[in-house]
Amino acid sequence: MASFRMGLKAHSVPMSLFRNNRQKLAAALREHSNITANTSYVLLEGGREVSFNDTDVNYLFRQESYFQYLFGVKEPDCYGVLHVASGKATLFVPRLAEEYATWMGRLLTLDEFKAMYETEEVFYVDELSSFFEKAAPSLILTLSGTNSDSGLTSKPAHFPGIDKFKTNKDLLHPIIAECRVIKSAEEIEVLRYVARVSSNAHINVMRFMRPGKSEYEGESVFLHHCYAIGGCRHTSYTCICGSGVNSAILHYGHAAAPNDRGTVDGDMCLFDMGANYCGFAADITCSFPVNGKFTEDQKFIYNAVLAARDAVLNEAREGVCWVDMHKLANRVMLEKLKEGGMLKGNVDDMLAAGLAGTFQPHGLGHLLGLDVHDVGGYLEGQPKRPTEPWLKCLRFARILKAGMYLTVEPGCYFIDWLMDRALAEPELNKFLNVEVFERFRNFGGVRIEDDVLITKDGCENFAIVPRTVQDIENVMTTRIDD
Ligand code: GLY
Ligand code: MN
Ligand code: MN
Repeated sequence: MASFRMGLKAHSVPMSLFRNNRQKLAAALREHSNITANTSYVLLEGGREVSFNDTDVNYLFRQESYFQYLFGVKEPDCYGVLHVASGKATLFVPRLAEEYATWMGRLLTLDEFKAMYETEEVFYVDELSSFFEKAAPSLILTLSGTNSDSGLTSKPAHFPGIDKFKTNKDLLHPIIAECRVIKSAEEIEVLRYVARVSSNAHINVMRFMRPGKSEYEGESVFLHHCYAIGGCRHTSYTCICGSGVNSAILHYGHAAAPNDRGTVDGDMCLFDMGANYCGFAADITCSFPVNGKFTEDQKFIYNAVLAARDAVLNEAREGVCWVDMHKLANRVMLEKLKEGGMLKGNVDDMLAAGLAGTFQPHGLGHLLGLDVHDVGGYLEGQPKRPTEPWLKCLRFARILKAGMYLTVEPGCYFIDWLMDRALAEPELNKFLNVEVFERFRNFGGVRIEDDVLITKDGCENFAIVPRTVQDIENVMTTRIDD
């Protein structure tokens, strides 16, 4: 049985995972009344090698996610075809000139590709046109659809000569995206693996960080663990390693803020990092005091977020509405902030006024899979994006189903402009105990982010990291030195 595996110790991903995904998609397409299964084919174009500006150096390749979902192919510049009636797959690989072998090693034969990826046939990309001439399809389904997180639209597959055939670029997207939402048993094992590797890496980072270390040093410990121990060559997104006031910047770590601050005693750290293995993502956030001991103020905010997270993990299961989970998390957090003296008044009124968005200006979480913000958010036939200001940041609004995999990531941040807006607006400032609120101005923020599989009667958390104040302090008493 062929598989993907990094080295000797990392998880082995069987090629049957991708074959089963193809069968699932073919079966879903056969249900569709506009598709004549026997003469219809899916055509996907894999990710392309991208050079760094005008140089002959390439960005480290990562496969396009839909292509990965169906074919699990490492190489760039490939195409894949799926026959809807039979589920038979044909892979098309680039025909490389002999001298490539000097730079890349021996070129694989078509039979070797066939054995490696367990597709029924393999041809060269330049044979696509003749393949379809022989197959005489009534319809080629290419893929184009708008990603509801990025707003970007994928480009349908193209090859010279495709114009001779009837194509449809829109039918496939909602169907294949929906297939990706419910994870198979084999996918769940990979997701569990990459979450475990990422969790252990986070624990190492907590044990390594201390006042005086820079944020990027924590990032490097994470990257090293995920790669050296877990075989994860990629992360699923740029590591977010905010300390002190930076921990309130939701996607810190970008090019202009490259995790470059030196930490000081008394800082909170918010480290949001997830490895990627064979395309599958983890997305985990740990928030902890850099010196390993929470102050009373840090405990107050941390425990408010933890209570919100615990409430959601207790309630999340098949049949529950995700929007209700977001509301529950917001409610619990506001209650805790009120209990601690930062807020006053009625929590229902706070929710109605949108006060939660001052502290958590993002949704409770998102679907997770081959993409960190995975597909399936706002597909046709699914609940639409809510319009209320405090709910419209949700990345999906669906009823949960067993087999969905998603993040639960409540947070509480003290972001200057949102604090100023809350202080200025009578509808919001009436709930604030200003002195307490102002005490947190440079606090930064706390996020607790878990990766959760929904089951019929509950959920399973794959992020295995210390979560209570006590557990974090205990873990951090064992230090890792550089
Ligand atoms: N790491 C990005 C997010 O949590 O959604
Ligand atoms: Mn996330
Ligand atoms: Mn995250």
